[in-house]
Amino acid sequence: MSVIPPLEVTDLTTTFVAGRRRTEVVRGVSFTIRRGETMMLLGESGSGKSVTARSIMRLYGSSADVGGSVRLAGRELLELPEQQLRAIRGGQIALVPQDPTGALDPLRRIGSQLAEVLGVHGVEGVKTAARRRAEELLAMVGIPDPKRVADSYPHELSGGMRQRAVIAIAVSCDPQVLIADEPTTALDVTVQAQILELLADLQQRLGMAVLMVTHDVGVAADFGGRVGVMYAGRLVEDGPANEVLSTPRHPYTAGLLDSLPTPGVTRGSLRSIIGSPPPVGAFPAGCAFAPRCPQARPSCGHEDPPLVAVAEDRVAACPVVNAEQVVA
Ligand SMILES: Nc1ncnc2c1ncn2[C@@H]1O[C@H](COP(=O)(O)OP(=O)(O)OP(=O)(O)O)[C@@H](O)[C@H]1O
Ligand code: SF4
Ligand SMILES: [Mg+2]
Repeated sequence: MSVIPPLEVTDLTTTFVAGRRRTEVVRGVSFTIRRGETMMLLGESGSGKSVTARSIMRLYGSSADVGGSVRLAGRELLELPEQQLRAIRGGQIALVPQDPTGALDPLRRIGSQLAEVLGVHGVEGVKTAARRRAEELLAMVGIPDPKRVADSYPHELSGGMRQRAVIAIAVSCDPQVLIADEPTTALDVTVQAQILELLADLQQRLGMAVLMVTHDVGVAADFGGRVGVMYAGRLVEDGPANEVLSTPRHPYTAGLLDSLPTPGVTRGSLRSIIGSPPPVGAFPAGCAFAPRCPQARPSCGHEDPPLVAVAEDRVAACPVVNAEQVVA
């Protein structure tokens, strides 16, 4: 019997619409996250990671055409009316955004915001029970004094504590899928590590499928699970993080790894990817990475290469590098 995965994204496309102007930003992204699995979306700024994450939750409303398929535990989200979606967001699927400040109401105490989410989604009806559950959740996300934090306004908390509170809200309804979009970039380095540890711990305990967006190869390596590498609105490589990040099968992934600082190597001698990604709306024909790719050849400008299997559980979209390695 086949097990239905918590999240199955197939050929996702997102095109922003402003008057007559249409800008295609996400161009046919497909991946599946199984229960208890993490998928990291890794790529440079502007590659379409956040737009992919937000399109999955259909957060763009009428400002974007979102095509393809997003199945949450088998249920197609792209066809659901907004009213049903609202119940699913923050319930079966939840988002932890980059900046915790924007996710919290500055004028309301943390406990009341958590209790409201619990009430809205029908987990707790009674006010005192909701308050108790709010404190339990704050403790679960590693907040040492949940009573005080529940009585605090967001501005009274440190950035790390605010992000913990946002995570508590996100996991309050026991979501099957948690999407975390660069959840630590607004925080200082020590706190970043603690928040990542918390997310890994919650994933284990709650058995959620996690989609985590990052532009940081180190974060992707530390978190483990799968990694999907994005370039110019497409996935160019996908597979187990330890394999993809040790033996990349796409020149872009190899370039990302080469641009990492290496202990003992001075900055000036670092190799990195030359040039910058193409702007949206002006993706080159053929492989979008060709203008920056050290292995590019004339044929690369003809056709945008599809993802093909290159090893067990691994796909990559570069026929040049993988010509002799493809497994059927
Ligand atoms: N609402 C929008 N309308 C039009 N274009 C948008 C919109 N949101 C994002 N874009 C464009 O889509 C492209 C991809 O943006 P996205 O935010 O997904 O990048 P990202 O990979 O998350 O980068 P970063 O690491 O900087 O967060 C960018 O060029 C961005 O300008
Ligand atoms: S298809 Fe060509 S340009 Fe694209 S990554 Fe492969 S070698 Fe480079
Ligand atoms: Mg982003």
